[in-house]
Amino acid sequence: MSKPPLTLYLAAPRGFCAGVDRAIKIVEMALQKWGAPVYVRHEIVHNKFVVDGLRDKGAVFVEDLKDCPEDRPVIFSAHGVPKSVPAEAAQRQMVYVDATCPLVSKVHIEAQRHSENGLQMVMIGHAGHPETIGTMGQLPEGEVVLVETPEDVAKIEVRNPDKLAYVTQTTLSIDDTADIVAALQARFPAIVGPHKEDICYATTNRQEAVKAMAQNCDAMLVVGAPNSSNSRRLVEVGAKAGCRYSQLVQRADNIDWRALEGITSIGITAGASAPEVLVNEVIDAFRARYEVTVETVQTAVENVEFKVPRVLRAPA
Ligand code: F3S
Repeated sequence: MSKPPLTLYLAAPRGFCAGVDRAIKIVEMALQKWGAPVYVRHEIVHNKFVVDGLRDKGAVFVEDLKDCPEDRPVIFSAHGVPKSVPAEAAQRQMVYVDATCPLVSKVHIEAQRHSENGLQMVMIGHAGHPETIGTMGQLPEGEVVLVETPEDVAKIEVRNPDKLAYVTQTTLSIDDTADIVAALQARFPAIVGPHKEDICYATTNRQEAVKAMAQNCDAMLVVGAPNSSNSRRLVEVGAKAGCRYSQLVQRADNIDWRALEGITSIGITAGASAPEVLVNEVIDAFRARYEVTVETVQTAVENVEFKVPRVLRAPA
């Protein structure tokens, strides 16, 4: 029986960003330099496939620094950590490497600078996400006020409405964040914001590509993990941009083929922590069922690269 035709729109850019690429490289290079085991505090990036691969090579993933022995190196994940974490590692005289994405570190510095200038910080982010915990943890407990929605803005209590600044998580929805910023500016006209968005280039570009293809697609699949903030935002952006079925899949065997019955076009993208091999696996699953024509929807070209920390560049 002949296969039905399907146009597969492939978002570009998609998948790994420079921060994820660097974080994975850091673990691999640390394993080369120091041998196994190398400890990693939290999933280095939010992707099970990546984490399992590194675990096979000798990385040990833990949630708490207390679970790392003093005599093995430890790496902090790309999402960033509260200041107390490197402080504890230093106090225990551990070798540690910080794989925090430089674009997250930039937000940490911003928060500190504002605080030093006497401004109270408001953080736009998701409660409990490691990046939010890390950024809020740059300042003493209770100093940073978290807002997750425009409605939260009405509820927060601040020390002085004329002395406020905000930062954001790097992986938020651009449009939702704009609504929260507008609510903050309406309630606190003197609030100071970042010169340029804290939402990073990779989040921005992946959301733009999804918006560009959403209206042409009967359905959209985002390859990514359920705990990946930027991947989940891509699903929402797809739905908001007019795609009637927008779904997160970790890999091909998660695809709900029944929900896709009758489609003639599909959009595929991947979150910043999802490897291309999983995208190819998903495309192959469609090729097995459909006569696929791939059309790339390119909305930006990325050539960002971040260096690994010096300790890993130096000869062993
Ligand atoms: Fe960094 Fe953005 Fe990736 S903050 S880790 S470049 S999603």
